[in-house]
Amino acid sequence: MSALFQSFKLKDVTLRNRIAIPPMCQYMAVDGRPNEWHLSHYTSLARGGAGLVIVEATAVSPEGRITPACTGIWNDDLAQAFVPIVQNIKAAGAVPGIQIAHAGRKASANRPWEGDDHIAEGDARGWQTIAPSAIAYGKGLPKTPRAMTLDDIARVRQNFVDAAQRARDVGFEWLELHFAHGYLAQSFFSAHSNHREDIYGGSVENRARFLLETLKAVREVWPENLPLTVRFGVIEYDGRDEQTLLESIGLVKQFKASGMDMISVSIGFTIAETSIPWGPAFLGPIAERVRREAEIPVSSAWGFGTPEIAERVVKDGQLDVVMVGRSHLANPHWPYLAAKELGIDRPSWTLPAPYAHWLARY
Ligand SMILES: Cc1cc2nc3c(=O)[nH]c(=O)nc-3n(C[C@H](O)[C@H](O)[C@H](O)COP(=O)(O)O)c2cc1C
Repeated sequence: MSALFQSFKLKDVTLRNRIAIPPMCQYMAVDGRPNEWHLSHYTSLARGGAGLVIVEATAVSPEGRITPACTGIWNDDLAQAFVPIVQNIKAAGAVPGIQIAHAGRKASANRPWEGDDHIAEGDARGWQTIAPSAIAYGKGLPKTPRAMTLDDIARVRQNFVDAAQRARDVGFEWLELHFAHGYLAQSFFSAHSNHREDIYGGSVENRARFLLETLKAVREVWPENLPLTVRFGVIEYDGRDEQTLLESIGLVKQFKASGMDMISVSIGFTIAETSIPWGPAFLGPIAERVRREAEIPVSSAWGFGTPEIAERVVKDGQLDVVMVGRSHLANPHWPYLAAKELGIDRPSWTLPAPYAHWLARY
């Protein structure tokens, strides 16, 4: 019996299996609006058989986009553009999720295949970035952000709330807050990027304040019966890892107490100088530790996208849900491939009938 192909229930939502598509920016939107690219991309992924499809990091405000080509949900008109995507994901039997995000000091960048660096000063496509402190990320992202005022903090928190409400209104059933990868929320938590001297900086409690306030405010508008998850970088691989992990797990416990239903364990990416031990399933033991110590369901990504690994980490209790990203870009029908490799009876059942019927003998 495969562990990966067991269903998973969280609140009132049931995933048909433990395979999820993590949020993956497409950098194909115009003025925040998803288009035909996004519709066919997400439809195809959902038809491929995953239990959960999380739509890419979608900005809560224009200045929160990573690039000018990122999706946004900062007004009702933009939110409506997600309706066909939501409908097609549901029609394919997957649960439609969305990650809402603010890129902070990493915003105003070129697309990855056009440099992945900050848009040059003076180029009209770029904009002023904001962050907890006026400290640049460095490397290819040298722009110094403007340190946020208390009014900015209140506004962005409200931007997250409004975005959550819109996501709810257009039918998303799973909401993820992007508190990872060196973007705005993660940069509040990290002492590398947060040098504030007010109630949002300094002690671990103060550095956690923006994240907890935002989560609590979102939980008030996001339906109680639907999953609310957080993607969070619990470790930086900067040589201070045990201390970061302890602080992170403490915060995950507070997320849980504040209404978070599941954590997506990821990496901080707050500074460029790290030594990340890339390799298959390298975050598995860390995810397992967070799961055990915080007593919360976990998902994770980065190198879980081969069938035996995905099966093993669920079976061993490291992850509840496995995020499979790039393997799905390579093959949107990855769950079928996984089912076949894991020796599941009639693996074509993972696909819609117009494909499954013809593949029944393959
Ligand atoms: C094209 C691309 C876009 C991504 N965009 C996002 C994003 O919007 N939000 C996010 O949290 N992570 C993003 N990531 C990271 C993925 O969610 C995932 O963690 C990563 O691909 C590692 O998983 P994998 O080894 O299965 O590919 C992106 C990754 C890729 C390849």
